[in-house]
Amino acid sequence: KKVVLAYSGGLDTSVILTWIKNTYNCEVVTLTADLGQGEELNGIEEKALKTGAIKAYVEDLQEEFARDFIFPMMRAGALYEGRYLLGTSIARPLISKRLVDIAHAEGCQAIAHGATGKGNDQVRFELAAAALDPSLKTIAPWREWDLTSRTDCLEYAAANGIDAPVSHSKPYSCDRNLLHCSFEGGELEDPWNEPGEFSYAMCVPVEQAPDEGEIITIDFEQGDPVAVNNERMSPAAIMIKLNELGGRHGIGRVDMVENRFVGMKSRGVYETPGGTVLFSARRDLEGITMDREVMHLRDSLIVRYSEMVYNGFWFAPERVALQALVDDTQKRVTGSVRLKLYKGQAIPLGRKSPYSLYREELATFETDQVYNQADAAGFITLQGLRLRGYGTKGE
Ligand code: ARG
Ligand code: SIN
Repeated sequence: KKVVLAYSGGLDTSVILTWIKNTYNCEVVTLTADLGQGEELNGIEEKALKTGAIKAYVEDLQEEFARDFIFPMMRAGALYEGRYLLGTSIARPLISKRLVDIAHAEGCQAIAHGATGKGNDQVRFELAAAALDPSLKTIAPWREWDLTSRTDCLEYAAANGIDAPVSHSKPYSCDRNLLHCSFEGGELEDPWNEPGEFSYAMCVPVEQAPDEGEIITIDFEQGDPVAVNNERMSPAAIMIKLNELGGRHGIGRVDMVENRFVGMKSRGVYETPGGTVLFSARRDLEGITMDREVMHLRDSLIVRYSEMVYNGFWFAPERVALQALVDDTQKRVTGSVRLKLYKGQAIPLGRKSPYSLYREELATFETDQVYNQADAAGFITLQGLRLRGYGTKGE
């Protein structure tokens, strides 16, 4: 029997690795994916093997993550509950995809993850795996074992010879990648508490942002960013660059109470510097390039699309179908946006596109030949037909 485990190298997943071996009496293969969490992955392979894995995969998935997950999601304008840019939600399906691939390559019968039984992540890992290979079983130790506290975990680690890191115990549960860093738990569990200094990993506090704004340009092709400040870059490099620029100006912090798929409300703090700059730039470019009805149709689907990503239905037929529509709407979202990054905001200053639908001769307040103002009277008369009929009846 063989299992492939999503392994971060931290205490929890090391305990999980050992627990799975002991409990299921099986071999464990690990996958550690670099999604841009900014942690040193040197030494992870040795650590996994030392903890008892028979084989350890360490993979740099940053380009695939940006190109095939972050960018397509951004084309949709995805935003959960009006604020959350879905940085953790979009990473889970990619990890699952790699777990399933490795399960096939190694002949594993199950995949395993370290998400708890109370959260969204378990759902995302498992729904993705269900869509990709329904024959694989899932092992979710947090739902199965009786280690209920950190102390239990430390005791289990000690009893099984697992090195526990000298406890620089983080005050929050964090998840960082190319798109964001999230903070949950600890003192944040009281939604009235203000997030402390440890909730800053990618952004400076806005008070410490430079007094001087910084002007940048972003070029897009068919809805995807391709260059920053006229320098063409790979998708991952664009995220890294914009995270640095946005973070320096304190852009993209969100503090919210959100609805988890499993039914509870949960407080989260998110830093999404590059994603927030891109969100603002793309919307701006869409302003000149998208047809009104196409834009409104796409916008009407943002809530649905975002729920699909948040709830773990990335590899589901409804998301794939919606993606086809979204991608079609982005065909002309090509052009450049100039923005000022300043004290927590990405402020568009100018935009241009070879596909611009903006017609100065139509919008002008000067006299023009193409638009006859007298036509507007009839337009309004007929639009008001219903209203005049309804209004006369009173309440
Ligand atoms: N609440 C966010 C979400 O559901 C972030 C989850 C963070 N996950 C974690 N394992 N720390 O997408
Ligand atoms: C977890 O419960 O494992 C993290 C939080 C979440 O998945 O929502």
